[in-house]
Amino acid sequence: MRILVIGSGGREHSVVRKLKESVKAEKLYCAPGNAGIAADAECVNISAMDIAGIVNFSKDNAIDLVFVTPDDPLVAGMVDALEAAGIKTFGPNKAAAIIEGSKAFSKALMKKYGIPTAAYDTFTDAASAMQYIKKQNKYPVVIKADGLALGKGVIIAENEAEAEGAVKSMINDGIFGASGKTIVVEEFLEGTEVSVLAFTDSVTIKPMASSKDHKRAQDGDMGANTGGMGTISPNPRYTPEVAKVCMEKIFLPTIAAMREEGRAFKGCLYFGLILTDDGPKVIEYNARFGDPEAQVVLPLLKTDFIDIILAIYENRLSEIDIEWENAACACVIMASGGYPAAYEKGKEIFGLNGNGQLDYENVTVYHAGTKSEENKFLTNGGRVLGVTAKAETLEAALEKAYSAVSQIRFDGVAYRTDIGKINKAGA
Ligand code: AMP
Ligand code: GLY
Repeated sequence: MRILVIGSGGREHSVVRKLKESVKAEKLYCAPGNAGIAADAECVNISAMDIAGIVNFSKDNAIDLVFVTPDDPLVAGMVDALEAAGIKTFGPNKAAAIIEGSKAFSKALMKKYGIPTAAYDTFTDAASAMQYIKKQNKYPVVIKADGLALGKGVIIAENEAEAEGAVKSMINDGIFGASGKTIVVEEFLEGTEVSVLAFTDSVTIKPMASSKDHKRAQDGDMGANTGGMGTISPNPRYTPEVAKVCMEKIFLPTIAAMREEGRAFKGCLYFGLILTDDGPKVIEYNARFGDPEAQVVLPLLKTDFIDIILAIYENRLSEIDIEWENAACACVIMASGGYPAAYEKGKEIFGLNGNGQLDYENVTVYHAGTKSEENKFLTNGGRVLGVTAKAETLEAALEKAYSAVSQIRFDGVAYRTDIGKINKAGA
């Protein structure tokens, strides 16, 4: 098959690498890709949001399958446009991608179908939001922009003044754009976070190996929320008992709810969960693979990735067995100093071989924000590299990942030194 992967981050690099392992992958393209992906696929200079450009490229190049990886093109309807042109896709259509595109939608869905989540209300004016927050008088309180915000649209306010600042910046100042002017105010949940990505054809759902993302910028879960600073898989707190409860109370009810709403979801559905004393609750849905969750989950997949994708496309996911390696992965993100706020780009990256990798067994350097110039790799984004190691145990994977990280250098590099460790709340 001739396959086109949409996007340019570490997640897309891990998708490309997994697809490449399949004997069915005859030719791989990535739009727009990055300097590391270029070693594994032919990068084409089309933006991930250029729907017409992607459709035209796919037709002109006899593409058999387009893997739409990032949230923005999914929410904007890239899958619908490709399917209208007769091209096979992986990813939900626009009607289904709203489960990530609008938090007001996903919260209302959970309420309607009794899926466990944090108590909440939705607001479009700052005064009513503040009235609700003052009445609850419970801190921290979580304030979320309705629409997509690069993983930064969530503010955990510790007191009334912080809450007021967050509400006003979203509703009055529109810091997350028009769709962020609708906000969700929700109860803060205590507990361990787990990410579960699941393959689904809208009727059958098959969870992948569980994972844990470390979203805060600094060690000890301090600093701002980021897109994710490191991941481990599997998540040691996600026991078979917890998995069973999640399947019954969250996963199956969610895909049934989406079918019921006429929004059948096909692709990878991401459940962001918190394991509370009251049982697992949903804090967010994503309509796609997580980044950097994909970088630790996909390396553990043993079954042919393309076979799974085709089974989803043809609504026969129930017919295939999906196997996972009995091993662990750890991914450490090497970021540009300053991320998720302002940072510099264009720093030379030292330590990588010509393919942008390290010569370490079971270590993969997934490129997130890199470009190449005159045979050099340069930083080109907030998250620069995701260094992933696989080993028999989580401890061994972490040790190997950090050992690999120590081989790579660039000016202003920032990374967390406590990926895979217990956080301050004991979670
Ligand atoms: P989200 O983009 O919704 O995943 O939120 C980003 C991060 O904020 C999550 O990974 C959690 O760490 C945190 N968060 C979001 N909602 C809640 C909540 N209701 N209670 C506690 N933490 C939350
Ligand atoms: N790592 C979290 C996300 O992809 O949304």
